[in-house]
Amino acid sequence: MDTLTVMKVCCIGAGYVGGPTCAVMALKCPDIQVTVVDRSSERIAQWNSEKLPIYEPGLDDVVKKCRNVNLFFSTDIETAIKEADLIFISVNTPTKNFGNGKGRAADLKYVESAARMIAEIAQSNKIVVEKSTVPVRAAESIMHILHANQRPGIRYDILSNPEFLAEGTAIEDLVHADRVLIGGEETPEGHKAVEKLSWIYEHWIPKKNILTTNTWSSELSKLAANAFLAQRISSINSLSAVCEATGADVSEVARAVGLDSRIGAKFLQASVGFGGSCFQKDILNLVYICEGLNLPEVAAYWQQVIDMNEYQKSRFSQKIIESLFNTVSDKRISIFGFAFKKNTGDTRETPAITVCKTLLEEGAKLDIYDPKVEPEQIIDDLTHPCVTESPENVKKAVQIHSDPYSAVRGTHAIVLCTEWDEFVTLDYKRIYQSMMKPAYIFDGRKILDHENLQQIGFHVQTIGKRYQRNGLMPSWGTVPQL
Ligand code: UDX
Ligand code: ADP
Repeated sequence: MDTLTVMKVCCIGAGYVGGPTCAVMALKCPDIQVTVVDRSSERIAQWNSEKLPIYEPGLDDVVKKCRNVNLFFSTDIETAIKEADLIFISVNTPTKNFGNGKGRAADLKYVESAARMIAEIAQSNKIVVEKSTVPVRAAESIMHILHANQRPGIRYDILSNPEFLAEGTAIEDLVHADRVLIGGEETPEGHKAVEKLSWIYEHWIPKKNILTTNTWSSELSKLAANAFLAQRISSINSLSAVCEATGADVSEVARAVGLDSRIGAKFLQASVGFGGSCFQKDILNLVYICEGLNLPEVAAYWQQVIDMNEYQKSRFSQKIIESLFNTVSDKRISIFGFAFKKNTGDTRETPAITVCKTLLEEGAKLDIYDPKVEPEQIIDDLTHPCVTESPENVKKAVQIHSDPYSAVRGTHAIVLCTEWDEFVTLDYKRIYQSMMKPAYIFDGRKILDHENLQQIGFHVQTIGKRYQRNGLMPSWGTVPQL
């Protein structure tokens, strides 16, 4: 056997990261057997069914091609670990909601339990790869656990290989990754392990795009990349408030700024706020680490990115209420989109939760439509103890629709929270006719044709731009003229 060859790969955790990553790995490496394991038998059953547990464009095709050929989904964690040469840890690392670091530090209990499982089961040498986003020096903790529990004669090499895929474009991001980052120990054995993992990626990623660093740089780079991306969104969102106050248009500002090749045009789309499982979690993590390292100024700098995002979400929510004559009590409001971005059914940290929570607290009745989020997920999110103390009241006030036209019947306003393409091409004349008047649209993603909507008769409000109507310039915070 060639010393670089890896025959069998196991991935612990069949989630948004583990599932798509392993599917693409299996597609691109027909000579490797990839087994994805999870302790949730329900999740594994879904991966083995026609309806996969996550919605991701292109994923179904890849899974269909490889499943039961060289890609396997299983609950038999023990066999998969025993047989694998290389094991990815791809479990969830949520923000702690208890104890030390509550609300900020990453909860590593799932990573730790995966490491303990490996130590208990492994009977031969393993390369263990941390794929989940973790705080800097987590690889060291995994190493401690493995070494403290290892059987005699077994060698472990720990690598950090953070995943940079974004949901909604995961397959494309995996197939054409900008870069693959591999962090390892600076020892001959460490280098060998890095080479082996690199060999897997070289099946489809040009070698020049595979960066190798020390473990800590790799771990920190993942947090840094997400912090930089989120910072751009908070920066443009902060300017959207200035635009609304001055009459500037944030899209024009973003275009003018983004044409500077040093700045670049991507991730400058002002919005109701960023969501998703990574940005907030990773920045909170970074802030927590900085505080622990006695770097309060650095911590405060990054904390502001989160604070600005909270401000944007609450600013948008408050302005809906103010525009609707300062009361939404008993008013029906349509929510278009609940996912944290288009092309995913994921709702983790979605800004729609903040918007809905605020409107529900003010007594509104919500008619929610999202093309991909499961209705039970929306109800789970809105009845979570962090959102409400009276889940029964929420259930009474929320109706989930499977069609946008039924979601607008008799409502006072549409609040667009997710930029699904289908929202752009709806028949807004038909929608206007079935709504209460005056009919409002709050476009939290800046994707609709606002001029056309105004011609139809809608009162339009959006992010980072004021609209003139009947010669009047309504601004957020004032009661609009009818
Ligand atoms: C992010 C990173 O992009 C990815 O590299 C990392 O691996 C995981 O975290 P993800 O959260 O899946 O990916 O999606 P992303 O496209 O980054 O969007 C995050 C949030 O920012 C979404 O709510 C999106 O709507 C919002 N966003 C994005 C904006 O509001 N404006 C923008 O210009 C871009
Ligand atoms: P991510 O977005 O990081 O992929 P997910 O929550 O989508 O996170 O997926 C993580 C998966 O890891 C879940 O399906 C969960 O059941 C699984 N998991 C967590 N801990 C373990 C463990 N010790 N063994 C096996 N699977 C685990």
